[in-house]
Amino acid sequence: MSEPSISTGKVKQKSYRPFDLEKIRDDFPILKREVNGKPLVYFDNAATTQKPIQVINTISNYYLNENANVHRGLHFLSEMATDDYENARLKVKEFLNALSTSEIVFTRGTTESINLLVSAYARKNYFKEGDEVIISHMEHHSNIVPWQLLRDERNIKIRVIPITDKGEIIFEEFEKMINEKTKFVSIVHVSNTLGTINPIKKIVDKAHNFNIPVLIDGAQATAHQKIDVQDLGCDFYAFSGHKTFGPTGIGVLYGKAGLLDKLPPYQGGGEMIRDVTFEKTTYNDIPHKFEAGTPNIVGAIGLGAAIDYIRSFNINDIANHELELLKYGTEKLSEIPGLRIIGNAGNKSAVISFVIDGIHPYDIGTIIDTYGVAIRTGHHCTQPLIERYGLTATARASFALYNSLEEIDILTESLNKTINMFH
Ligand SMILES: Cc1ncc(COP(=O)(O)O)c(C=O)c1O
Repeated sequence: MSEPSISTGKVKQKSYRPFDLEKIRDDFPILKREVNGKPLVYFDNAATTQKPIQVINTISNYYLNENANVHRGLHFLSEMATDDYENARLKVKEFLNALSTSEIVFTRGTTESINLLVSAYARKNYFKEGDEVIISHMEHHSNIVPWQLLRDERNIKIRVIPITDKGEIIFEEFEKMINEKTKFVSIVHVSNTLGTINPIKKIVDKAHNFNIPVLIDGAQATAHQKIDVQDLGCDFYAFSGHKTFGPTGIGVLYGKAGLLDKLPPYQGGGEMIRDVTFEKTTYNDIPHKFEAGTPNIVGAIGLGAAIDYIRSFNINDIANHELELLKYGTEKLSEIPGLRIIGNAGNKSAVISFVIDGIHPYDIGTIIDTYGVAIRTGHHCTQPLIERYGLTATARASFALYNSLEEIDILTESLNKTINMFH
């Protein structure tokens, strides 16, 4: 197999845009609409983020002016689409500070990225009976179920790092879990339910002391903080376009070139091959080896536009704004009688899960929707975590760069009205 190719290309970075909330909100046309006769307050960003006009225009321009299949044509449009698709990969490479574009595999999203990796490792016969994989108690189902499928196939053991009541992993327990049977660590960067930001560098360092590869589920991190995979040191990093102001159906698996290169393909078909005969097939170089069939071309290009959008700001300005929202939201919600916040980690992203005495989260969500406020209720695809708190559901408000303190006031007011309605 040939050596992974290293692209040294660079996307030009202009100077940063000032963080002007009014102008930012203007970029997101959906924020101007009304819901149930009230201005939309969108606090369901952990489920999916809204899209700026720059992304919407890029997608529509692609279909209006450019649509063609990639990599296979010599005609003008095909070359244009290929350039834009591969340029999107370059943008992702820079966004994550990966070493090379060959380390960026386009997938359907975080879920597929994790499934790809588990399947490829399984096909390589990396896991044997009795081997252990470590995950944490705060994983999304997407980082639990693929490992369970593997467990059922290979008789491996899944070990779960416990968490404190505040919602922080107990690092000493993780340290104790590592032994000669540990073959993989797969952990979430930011919890979608608790908002906890995990100490990824510390986890990676520990695992690497034992030569154990580490996958990070970055679904809730990429829209909110600087991601530098070289600094984190992780071997693999997964994220979703739609949670990063990009379109649905596109995501990324970052993997260190040396590791990706050694893995067998995930799916078979077009584009992932070099040569096919009925006797034997040889495979393309990474990352194409993992991209069978016509890819989500417009999805990748749209994600590239979303990355341009994020990178037009100083990411610290976004992080600081969201920290302000988190602080203000925590303060205001804590004042509501009978409301309890679930997840109080010291290092937290702008996600607030809560329950209110005597009112089911579904009722909270349904009632405040009538005031135009969109939050999520349920187990947030983290059922074991929710059960850890003795609950079946929470209400969750999750913020993004375009949210305002005034919107938090509307949330608070609508929650107070809900409580009054019930009592
Ligand atoms: C932490 C986390 N991991 C994984 C996922 C799955 O992402 P997707 O559905 O985009 O594949 C989510 C989605 O909510 C998430 O929050």
